[in-house]
Amino acid sequence: MSGAQTTGRRRGPRASLKQLVPYLLTQRGPLTLALALGIVGAGTSLAQPVLLGQVIERVQLSQPLGVLLVILSVLVVVDALLSGFQHYVLQRMGEGVVLHSRRTLIARILRLPIGEFDRRRTGDLVSRVGSDTTLLRAVLTQGMVEAISGLLVFFGALIGMLVIDPVLFGITFSVVVIALMIVVAVSAKIRPAVTQAQQKVGDLAAQVERSISSIRTIRAAGATHREQRATEAEAEEAYVLGLKVAKISALIVPISFLALQLSFLVVLGLGGYRVAIGAIGIAQLVMFIVFLFLMVAPLGQAFGAIAAVNQALGALGRIQEIVTTPAENDHDVALAPAGRIVPLAEQAQPDAPAIRFNDVSFTYRSAAPARIDARELVRSGRGGRGAWRDAEAAPAEIVETSVLKNVSFEIARSSRVALVGPSGAGKSTTLALIERFYDPDSGSIELHGVDLRNLDRGELRAQLGYVEQDAPVLAGSLRDNLLLGSPDASDAECIRVLRAVNLGGLLERTAANLAHIGSASTHIDSAPDHIGSAPDTENVESLGESNLPPTSDIAAAHLSRALDAEVGERGIMLSGGEKQRLAIARTLLSAP
Ligand SMILES: Nc1ncnc2c1ncn2[C@@H]1O[C@H](COP(=O)(O)OP(=O)(O)OP(=O)(O)O)[C@@H](O)[C@H]1O
Ligand SMILES: [Mg+2]
Repeated sequence: MSGAQTTGRRRGPRASLKQLVPYLLTQRGPLTLALALGIVGAGTSLAQPVLLGQVIERVQLSQPLGVLLVILSVLVVVDALLSGFQHYVLQRMGEGVVLHSRRTLIARILRLPIGEFDRRRTGDLVSRVGSDTTLLRAVLTQGMVEAISGLLVFFGALIGMLVIDPVLFGITFSVVVIALMIVVAVSAKIRPAVTQAQQKVGDLAAQVERSISSIRTIRAAGATHREQRATEAEAEEAYVLGLKVAKISALIVPISFLALQLSFLVVLGLGGYRVAIGAIGIAQLVMFIVFLFLMVAPLGQAFGAIAAVNQALGALGRIQEIVTTPAENDHDVALAPAGRIVPLAEQAQPDAPAIRFNDVSFTYRSAAPARIDARELVRSGRGGRGAWRDAEAAPAEIVETSVLKNVSFEIARSSRVALVGPSGAGKSTTLALIERFYDPDSGSIELHGVDLRNLDRGELRAQLGYVEQDAPVLAGSLRDNLLLGSPDASDAECIRVLRAVNLGGLLERTAANLAHIGSASTHIDSAPDHIGSAPDTENVESLGESNLPPTSDIAAAHLSRALDAEVGERGIMLSGGEKQRLAIARTLLSAP
């Protein structure tokens, strides 16, 4: 691991305001609209105290008010409507940013090098897409834009106050500035706390994922209670870290409350005195107070926004950590000994063996997920500050497992070769190297005499039919699973490969169930269990009538429909052998 990476891990993922900007800029339209609405809204808000002052002066001079009152009421209504519209635009923008960040994350996660998945936990990655992105929305809704438009009202009100009475203004302003400085200082502490809280949520998601995906093993082992405790422990730690964030942000509430209360008291007391000595009139004092009210709202927003932005940056750090991890093929050109990616046809040597390993050595660099770190964090958080720092500094431990050492062999074309060896010898690893899930540390692997690193990964993998040892089956239908690698295959081809791997029986059984249900709709209740969705009633009716299509057509139609049978989450509705054969059928279908 390089030094830079080590320091990165030590500090934990961090993000700055600058990194937030590109996410905001994806929403240029709504952003502009929200800002424009903000400016108009600020104008209507600021006009109100001025008009109010006029009303009071006219009342004092016993002049008619008609038009002024109408204008004032219209302004108030327009202001209210505008703020509602702005609220919607902001929410929409927030959702847009969440969508953008999710898209970016999904695109990157699906392209991360396989090694990254040896070092990260599924649940944590899922939680980054689900939970961390949501926090970004807060910046926009209760955050930045509202604060920016609020800023206009704030400064407008300040100027109004300054014009009315510089003395009163000076005192109010100092109170506000001091409060603002305290809030900024306190909020800075929110950012790392949120990162840790979100990391814990990631750990929790990973733990839940582990429990659910191995629920049968856990039940069989009688470990339900222990697993529950472990999962609850993660949830409690997330709670403790969440409380830490809550405590920091709660500090902001009394500070802003005190600041506002204090400035009101000062203005009322001192203002009353200044009216009494004749320095200002009643109308001026009322205007000043309304300006103060106007200033308070954006100030509260600003306090909230500072906290919200810091929260979002805490989550953004975790998002950026994934987004800035290079994708699998980002450095392919640099890795290629030829200095560029070369098409296979251009380089392939007709007399070279199909596969050749030249003195290949390979070491896994995986990590046991660093959940201990977070656990320590919580414990030391209760203990003392120093321990907290230590836990934060603990780098994730990368475990090196040297698997292949100076391996050389050749596989001739059109030959059938079995790789035999004890468990853990490195057979699956050898295949993973051929698929280029990993690159060797030293030596080289050739396909038709071409170094794999010179080839486009997509082209290389299209040349190979690969069935994983665990033969994963994806949630969805039989057809979804078959079409994974060859989206354009016809039903007939699907049926052919299923028969080739001896899954014809399964398909016919499912089809027979459909036919049975179709021809004897009264017997639906007694229909045996089958993998497959409920039959659709339209078809049931048409099959029950006398003008039936020829039997073979029925069979073909049913077989096609049987392809839509659901296999369940990770193929849970299939037997172990059926899963493996389905995976083989998928590979046969996309065979080069
Ligand atoms: N992702 C990984 N990270 C770290 N070590 C790994 C990883 N995958 C495998 N190993 C280690 O590499 C060694 C070889 O594993 P491999 O899966 O290649 O064995 P195998 O020959 O296929 O065994 P089996 O016959 O049991 O399938 C094992 O000791 C294993 O612990
Ligand atoms: Mg294996």
